[in-house]
Amino acid sequence: MSTVMKSIQHLTRALACATLGFLLQAPAHARDLVLGFSQLGSESQWRIANTKSIQESAKAAGVQLRFENAEGNPAAQVTAIRAFISQKVDVIALAPGVTTGWDDVLKEAREAGIPVIITDRGIDTHDDGLYATVLGSDFAEEGRRAARWLVRSGTAKAQVRIVELQGTSGSAPAIERKAGFEEVLRTDPRYKVVRSEVANFSKDKGREVMAAILQSEKQVDVVYAHNDDMALGAIEALEAAGRKPGKDVLLISVDATRGAFEAMVQNKLNVTVECNPLIGPQLMDLVKLVKAGKPVPKRVQSREGVFAMDKAASLIGSRKY
Ligand code: AHR
Repeated sequence: MSTVMKSIQHLTRALACATLGFLLQAPAHARDLVLGFSQLGSESQWRIANTKSIQESAKAAGVQLRFENAEGNPAAQVTAIRAFISQKVDVIALAPGVTTGWDDVLKEAREAGIPVIITDRGIDTHDDGLYATVLGSDFAEEGRRAARWLVRSGTAKAQVRIVELQGTSGSAPAIERKAGFEEVLRTDPRYKVVRSEVANFSKDKGREVMAAILQSEKQVDVVYAHNDDMALGAIEALEAAGRKPGKDVLLISVDATRGAFEAMVQNKLNVTVECNPLIGPQLMDLVKLVKAGKPVPKRVQSREGVFAMDKAASLIGSRKY
């Protein structure tokens, strides 16, 4: 290849990189990209941190955000998406409360030529062409991690009786955290889930449901809560019933919020599996790529760890949510 051709190729590549770089780092005043975001609710500390992350990252990325919070009502999310379509936003992001019921409205978005990014929770559909990508956590793996921690923590008991507090019915984290947990426990017959009740990812409901369970379940060795808020509610119910959470009842939960770290420092919660809500910056990068017609992976995952009680005091200061 001639030197002239090589220089032209070089220049073309440099220009392409500069354009993409510009697109990804558009200054705050370049308000030409409009993102409609449908948030599912405000049920937990995780969700509050997630909303804040989306709003702050949009501002920092120069994306004009239209934010609608459905406060736990999936029908209101469908209405919000239809409003975004009629407003002709550039990209729609959806944090779906439940897995099903999205096909019709997502088809409408596709017909209008508006790309959709699913964030946080996945959806159940046969047509994966309805969305550009899913950004979020691997909830089944979080359930497996919770169970692996329990099995590895060892027990001298012949039978370990577990109470499970489930998140909202029909939501991806409730379905998948349950399945992942059960998958690992099947390998050891000593572990038995004796009660599994829905507590909607909320602290108040976690307290109420746990208190009711304690009326009839006299032997509870472990509480596995699908999120920290429900675990914190369960801790209060256990204490009110004269039990010692973290000691005579092991507490396992998911999210790794500051509240969970505080409970671990007080020796009341044994372990929390991280589920990272701070996905705003990753979302804004994807929004810009999708809008620019660039290829994006069908699944983008957040990086997460597992934190046990013994490390809580040294880590609590660095927690961002
Ligand atoms: O979808 C993520 C889950 O939703 C979080 O674990 C829970 O706290 C939230 O309400």
